[in-house]
Amino acid sequence: MTQEAIDLSVDSQPTEQAHLDDDISVTDASMSNGDNTTNATSINNNVQEYTENSSVHGHGNGHDEMEDDEDEGQIGPSPIDVLIGNGISKKDIEKLQESGLCTVESIAYTPKKILTTIKGISDLKADKLISEASKIVPLGFTTATEFHQRRSELITLTTGSKQLDTLLGGGIETGAITEIFGEFRTGKSQLCHTLAVTAQLPVEMGGGEGKCLFIDTESTFRPVRIVPIARRFGLNENEAMENIAYARAYNADHQLQLLNQAAQMMAQSRFSLLIVDSIMALYRTDYSGRGELSARQMHVAKFMRTLQRLADEFGIAVVITNQVVAQVDGGAMFNPDPKKPIGGNIIAHASTTRLYFKKGKGANRICKIYDSPCLAETDCVFAIGQGGIMDPTDESENYEDE
Ligand SMILES: Nc1ncnc2c1ncn2[C@@H]1O[C@H](COP(=O)(O)OP(=O)(O)O)[C@@H](O)[C@H]1O
Ligand SMILES: [Mg+2]
Repeated sequence: MTQEAIDLSVDSQPTEQAHLDDDISVTDASMSNGDNTTNATSINNNVQEYTENSSVHGHGNGHDEMEDDEDEGQIGPSPIDVLIGNGISKKDIEKLQESGLCTVESIAYTPKKILTTIKGISDLKADKLISEASKIVPLGFTTATEFHQRRSELITLTTGSKQLDTLLGGGIETGAITEIFGEFRTGKSQLCHTLAVTAQLPVEMGGGEGKCLFIDTESTFRPVRIVPIARRFGLNENEAMENIAYARAYNADHQLQLLNQAAQMMAQSRFSLLIVDSIMALYRTDYSGRGELSARQMHVAKFMRTLQRLADEFGIAVVITNQVVAQVDGGAMFNPDPKKPIGGNIIAHASTTRLYFKKGKGANRICKIYDSPCLAETDCVFAIGQGGIMDPTDESENYEDE
């Protein structure tokens, strides 16, 4: 398998970046031992240093990317610096970057009333930013044919199971949010570990040729799991771990704040996947009772909107996992397994594709399409193994108790 390395850091980098004085709590996977007792493995360097020290290793022929002059035409998001001028100062741009808005796309996709909440951005400046951004980012109509063409070029990330990929019409979609919900032990986190590796693979192998950002709210990320998964896909395990930026979130505000750092990192090097495992765990503990429900849902909505913006802005796949609760309403009468994902309508509407994981025999698990804009509500069987998510084998049925 391919082991050669290429550097996928985005070459259209702004040379200067807002300097971050605060410690950054995003670290690479190899620095975390997945142990509850290690507190925020804060490293004292800034975002820029982080990205300089790591590169994605996928396929490639070892060419220096500078040599490939023909694809000068910029792919990917435009750095926000191009908006400087016409009353927009470098300082304004720095303020925007601190709020996680690092590309022209992010400005074009963000509502004005949110821009004006950023310190130093007046009504006038917001108008100016939006009008300049919309000159660069296409925001109008297109034909269905052209849209179809663009969608057919969309990359999907392999789950490691051919059957599951087929069910999903190729794999996990980029540019969209995929939610995986189910009871504990159904393989949600195992799929996240697998995707953290496959996101780095070359496109021909079902990868996204980018790094993975992993936000862990339940402290269940285990770097040791990355080793056999990376080997299975022919990647060097140390490089695979270097390419996973890991952050443990400690409360709902922190979880949201990590997305700002995520945006800054994504503007600097190529990421293909953002994982949040799991989305609601911290909201469940930080907010209690009916009285706080509307505040909670507003916070969740903001988080989900930011995830979708990152998916649009950087063309990454966003994967979130979710817990379930017993369904007590009418549906329970007709359904022998009445479970529903938590988070209510906000999560339901913000997730593009929703997948329901259930236990099967032994190491087997069942994935059911629960909601999708283009897939029927069918299901398939996959298995969890040492090498991550895979197709079921005869042995996998006897792997553990039922
Ligand atoms: N190295 C491994 N090889 C095979 N199965 C594993 C391995 N590690 C964990 N599992 C299985 O994965 C399941 C847990 O999956 P997980 O993704 O953590 O569940 P969830 O996140 O849905 O609660 C358990 O049944 C466990 O036996
Ligand atoms: Mg889990």
